[in-house]
Amino acid sequence: MERTLILIKPDGVQRGLIGEIIKRLEARGLKIIGAKFMKVDQKLAETHYQEHVGKPFYPGLLRYICSSPVMAMVWEGRNAVAVVRQTMGKTNPSEAAPGTIRHDFALYPERNLTHSSDKPERGEEEVSLWFKPEELVEWDRNTDDWIYSL
Ligand code: CMP
Repeated sequence: MERTLILIKPDGVQRGLIGEIIKRLEARGLKIIGAKFMKVDQKLAETHYQEHVGKPFYPGLLRYICSSPVMAMVWEGRNAVAVVRQTMGKTNPSEAAPGTIRHDFALYPERNLTHSSDKPERGEEEVSLWFKPEELVEWDRNTDDWIYSL
C-alpha cells in the first residue's frame, strides 16, 4: 500500500481543525498508521523543505512550520499520495476546488493548513524523515473489503 506524510500545520492546529481534517481523511477510506503531535525544530524544517531553498517564501515557510505544534501523520491507501492531495486541494487555497480542505477552510498559500507528499517516492522519503519505523503501526482494518475490491 502507498504511504504519504500529512502534516496539519500550525494554523490547522491553532484553528482547531485537527479533528475536521482527520475526519475527512478517515471518511474517504484512508487508513492512519502513525501520528505524533510535535514542535518542528529548525533542522527538520530545513531538511523537509530543502527543495524550496531560495524561493521568496522560504524564510516565512520555515518560521511558519516552526511557530507552533504540528500534527504529523502517516496515512496509507491505494494511490494515497494522489488521493490525499485531491482531498487537500491545490496549494494555493484560492485555487482549490470546492469541497477540498483548503477551499473550505483556508484563503492564503502561506497559511494552507496542511502538507502532504507530492509523489509516491517523496512519500517514502518524508515518512522516513519524520517517523522511526517503530512509530508506525501496521494493522488490519475489517472495513477494507468495503472500501476496495480485494
Ligand atoms: P506545502 O505542501 O507544505 O509545501 C511547500 C509550502 O510552501 C506549501 O505547502 C505552502 O505552504 C508554501 N508555498 C508554496 N507556494 C507558495 C507561494 N507561491 N507563496 C507562498 N507560500 C507558498
